[in-house]
Amino acid sequence: TADVTTLIARYVRDIPDHPQPGVVFKDITPLLAHPTGLATVVDAITAPLEGRRIDLVAGLEARGFIFGAPAAVRLGAGFVPLRKAGKLPAATLAESYDLEYGTATVEMHADVVAPGSRVLIVDDVLATGGTGRAAVDLIRRAGGTVVEFSVLLELGFLKGREKLADVDLRALATV
Ligand code: PRP
Ligand code: MG
Repeated sequence: TADVTTLIARYVRDIPDHPQPGVVFKDITPLLAHPTGLATVVDAITAPLEGRRIDLVAGLEARGFIFGAPAAVRLGAGFVPLRKAGKLPAATLAESYDLEYGTATVEMHADVVAPGSRVLIVDDVLATGGTGRAAVDLIRRAGGTVVEFSVLLELGFLKGREKLADVDLRALATV
């Protein structure tokens, strides 16, 4: 079976000019459709954390849910959905951020991360870093510790890593 870097290189596909001209969209659906794609990615996200305490995995809506939820199962951790504005029904903490295209807000239920919780944040792609920055700030505002922020693919040319210099950031692949 192919290693995770090879899988990502082969099965994450570029869609030029989506969702707007000039943006090259990274489409993970071929990877998800591969019979061992999801399992290989979840293994690669969780393997470095073996033996470390993770209380919660926080996944970023929507694509971070796909990888974050099985990572939580694998780690024996709970799962926290970090959602786009207006979706969560109870009291929330919110952070706004700029995307490569547009602006958005991410929300988390205010009572779900107990102070002192050790949290792994998971998403598919690190682009400008706005989404990840918002996620980290939400977890920390609730009193959680961000053990690691793990993404499948880092778009190095967008320099999102610079916005996350205070975070242990792991990318399974970089372009
Ligand atoms: C994409 C991607 C990351 C984020 C990365 O999500 O899945 O979450 O953008 O961008 P950034 O580093 O510049 O913040 P998007 O908001 O398009 O939505 P989706 O996951 O719901 O498809
Ligand atoms: Mg996303």
